Amino acid sequence: MQKSHVKSLVISGASSGIGLALAQHYLQQGATIAAMARRADLLEALFRQFPQQVHIYPLDVRDLTAIQAAAHDFINKVGVPDIVIANAGVSRGTLTEYAEDIHAFQQVMDINVMGIAKTFQPFIAPMKAAGKGTLVGISSVAGFRGLPGSEAYSASKAAAISYLESLRVELRHTDIKVVTLCPGYIRTPMTDVNTYPMPFIIDADDAAQRFAKVIEKQKSFAVVPWQMGLVGKLLKLLPNWLYDLAFSKAPHKPRNI
Ligand SMILES: NC(=O)c1ccc[n+]([C@@H]2O[C@H](COP(=O)([O-])OP(=O)(O)OC[C@H]3O[C@@H](n4cnc5c(N)ncnc54)[C@H](OP(=O)(O)O)[C@@H]3O)[C@@H](O)[C@H]2O)c1
Repeated sequence: MQKSHVKSLVISGASSGIGLALAQHYLQQGATIAAMARRADLLEALFRQFPQQVHIYPLDVRDLTAIQAAAHDFINKVGVPDIVIANAGVSRGTLTEYAEDIHAFQQVMDINVMGIAKTFQPFIAPMKAAGKGTLVGISSVAGFRGLPGSEAYSASKAAAISYLESLRVELRHTDIKVVTLCPGYIRTPMTDVNTYPMPFIIDADDAAQRFAKVIEKQKSFAVVPWQMGLVGKLLKLLPNWLYDLAFSKAPHKPRNI
């Protein structure tokens, strides 16, 4: 197997789905990782598989103090990471008409948007000082247009795209690169609950390999798989009247997960 030159990285949401697949991809190539997520038992299982290479940090990405402590510990033990991947995210249907969904809306925004900023924050100054680093944010094609029934999720992913662009331009004159990754449909526990057709869906392991290639090339923005990139471009071109007509009957993500 070809060894990657990535020596160390931080991955949030490493307990499941895309984050776990990314962790396993880089671990198999010999990298050392900081694995962050709330479910400690799943992180411990990863640690048992790769005890020499995994540092686990059971935490919630809404907790800046916990992330700062984890970053401090990892940098002390391993050094400034080559890559930080802010992947943790949640998806659930929300409808503004229901009061209880407003709380869910807040949670989605806190995790999917603020969680990215909080994950990056403690690494930026050390990366600047080290003269290296790549910050990767996981957004979604769902952020390209507002999907019905996914008011919070679409808003959070659109906000993530804009946030990551602001950060990329802000850091342009430093040695830190910012990569925005927009997955289409990837087979994970997040999509396992969907009962509607998911075009061009790919497995998480396949997705992880494709993401790693994008990160290696330090592309500023990429959609994976590429077919969903074309779909996304088309969606952006549609005038509102046509988009509204086409999507008014689109299937909704369940509200209660
Ligand atoms: N699957 C897709 O088709 C798809 C498409 C576009 C974008 N995405 C994005 O890709 C990312 C990964 O999704 P996935 O499909 O791999 O879903 P997943 O299997 O449900 O994994 C989500 C991960 O995020 C972690 N997480 C959620 N809330 C967290 C919190 N508050 N603090 C810390 N960690 C948290 C979860 O860990 P714990 O529960 O253990 O905390 C889990 O490891 C998400 O940002 C998602 O929006 C996925």
